[in-house]
Amino acid sequence: MLTRFTNLIRYCRLVFLFARTGRTSDFGFWRRFSLGLKIMHVYLKLRKDSASTFPEQLVLLDAILRINRSISGHIAEFGCYKGAASVILSIGAKITGRKLLVFDSFEGLPEPAEPVRNIANGAILNYRKGMYAGSLSHVRQNIERYGEITSVEFVQGYFSSTLSTRQNNEKYAMIFEDADLVSSVKDVLKYAWPKLNCGAPFFCHEARDLEVCEIFFDSDFWRVNFSCRPPGLVGAGMGLPLCFSGFDDIRINPILGRFGSCLAYVFKQ
Ligand SMILES: C[S@@+](CC[C@H](N)C(=O)[O-])C[C@H]1O[C@@H](n2cnc3c(N)ncnc32)[C@H](O)[C@@H]1O
Repeated sequence: MLTRFTNLIRYCRLVFLFARTGRTSDFGFWRRFSLGLKIMHVYLKLRKDSASTFPEQLVLLDAILRINRSISGHIAEFGCYKGAASVILSIGAKITGRKLLVFDSFEGLPEPAEPVRNIANGAILNYRKGMYAGSLSHVRQNIERYGEITSVEFVQGYFSSTLSTRQNNEKYAMIFEDADLVSSVKDVLKYAWPKLNCGAPFFCHEARDLEVCEIFFDSDFWRVNFSCRPPGLVGAGMGLPLCFSGFDDIRINPILGRFGSCLAYVFKQ
């Protein structure tokens, strides 16, 4: 009971911070404040369906609002589970006049090809085929109820088969990737990175997973696939400092674990 109350106070404080920062002529304090409250309401309704936290979702919405209008393209989400973050992204897409593409198998993770370890303690994460399965109808229902379904297109299937069929001229103004597995993240990068416009952000939800973070610093991967240097990843290791991780790291280190998140990003240069 006390934890719930404390969380609510923290959420309200975050909404206030969200409203105060990043104000523009289109999205001033009160518009951002009411958006923040709406996102908080959605999160409280859908938190059982969510593998991302409220502060992480606020960061994603903030990032959409900050995308320069000169950067064209859709918002692309890779890995939606039951669609809790998709709801937020759809709201962001709608109010900025963009489309949200939701890529997922809607059958959960594929068979993991290699282990992924937590950076903090080296523990192997227990990923299994079919984990995080959310059906397309469930995700659609959540977005219809709380988000903006008219701005959403679903792309069903494993990334390795669906991404290669997308039109060459399809462009993204932001990517949110939360696909857990090394092979899945590599598939996303191989096909979607070239579609991400320069100056646009790529968010990764595996900030604390060693083998996934490594990809963003892997010279060979970037040279072979894109003839460029690795971009790196802001927040790799501990996540963006959102002071609300809510995940296992609190058990690993009760003090430090509270300060991070699972979210990291890099802007395409
Ligand atoms: C951790 S969940 C996503 C959680 C979600 N972002 C949230 O905030 O609630 C991982 C998702 O990635 C999807 N996924 C992982 N690898 C995939 C692949 N290769 N192809 C399609 N979907 C994949 C799974 O089906 C699952 O829905």
